[in-house]
Amino acid sequence: MLKNKVLYILEQQKGDIVTGGQLAGVLGVSRNAVWKAIGLLRNDGNEILSIPNKGYKLMDTNDTLSVNIIENVLTTDFIGKKIVLLPTIHSTNQYLKEIDTANIDSGFVVIADEQTSGRGRRGRAFLSTKSQGVYLSILLKLGSKQQDTRLLTICAAVAVSKAIEKVCGIRADIKWVNDIFCNGKKICGILTEATISGELLEISSVIVGIGINTGSVPAELANIATSLQEVSGIRGIRNQLIAEVLNEFESVIVDYTEHGKTQEIINYYTSRLFIIGKPVYLPDIAHDYTATVIGISDIGALIVKDDRGDIQHITTGEIKLLWE
Ligand code: BTN
Repeated sequence: MLKNKVLYILEQQKGDIVTGGQLAGVLGVSRNAVWKAIGLLRNDGNEILSIPNKGYKLMDTNDTLSVNIIENVLTTDFIGKKIVLLPTIHSTNQYLKEIDTANIDSGFVVIADEQTSGRGRRGRAFLSTKSQGVYLSILLKLGSKQQDTRLLTICAAVAVSKAIEKVCGIRADIKWVNDIFCNGKKICGILTEATISGELLEISSVIVGIGINTGSVPAELANIATSLQEVSGIRGIRNQLIAEVLNEFESVIVDYTEHGKTQEIINYYTSRLFIIGKPVYLPDIAHDYTATVIGISDIGALIVKDDRGDIQHITTGEIKLLWE
């Protein structure tokens, strides 16, 4: 579609003026066709300035999702080789659970601009307001390596932390097991779900869902959640962020599955684990208790010292920060 091609060129020169003549020439269409395409792009919500006698400028803050632009930044071999972008969906994880993925390759990615029933861990909702975040799910088929979904979640947390730091230049901390925090508030959640099949009830694929707040944060979450825009002031980076999350994720996954670098991954994860040495609250079936975080084991368990002085390796459930 012409409008997508126009947007792609403007995005390459985001913040700069591109003349109607240049666009028409590169695309082999009339200036009038370019002008109409600009109108359609504006109707889609794109922030494009017309500067009289000069041309068009896509504002730096423009944040429309585009598969072309994501693909332009991707350096992966398998993650994101096929991407589906949906304006709205109940949940990108749920979408992958509902379609027949038998013939879909590992690394397939579904991205949504909005989720109407975004899902978090433990049955919670993940608020996914239109255009205010990155909401995506990745389908992984990794053979025997996928049996350990906790380590895959750790790989995803490392990838998101690295991508945020690279794109926004801010520190992205991790809270065990799957939350990314900036300035003490949650900015991203990760939901890893396994698909079980066959008589042996083996994991046939894993869905890694990632939700990152990029724009405005709903008022009801303002005390506990933040966004990249709030922390860094940066807007208009969703395409780049998605591509870098996928780039980093593939790199970490390959390190884990092919290069045996689990310890390096755990070390990086630990370097961003801001709860080390801090007291946390551990909800438990028998009794809830407080404990001090010591570190992460080689299988991704949280090592804590409980209030009786005993060392425990926590593999399931989740911790609560005492100040949450
Ligand atoms: C959590 O914080 O408990 C996990 C949140 C995971 C949210 C992402 S957004 C994309 C994917 N689709 C969903 O429905 N959930 C995940």
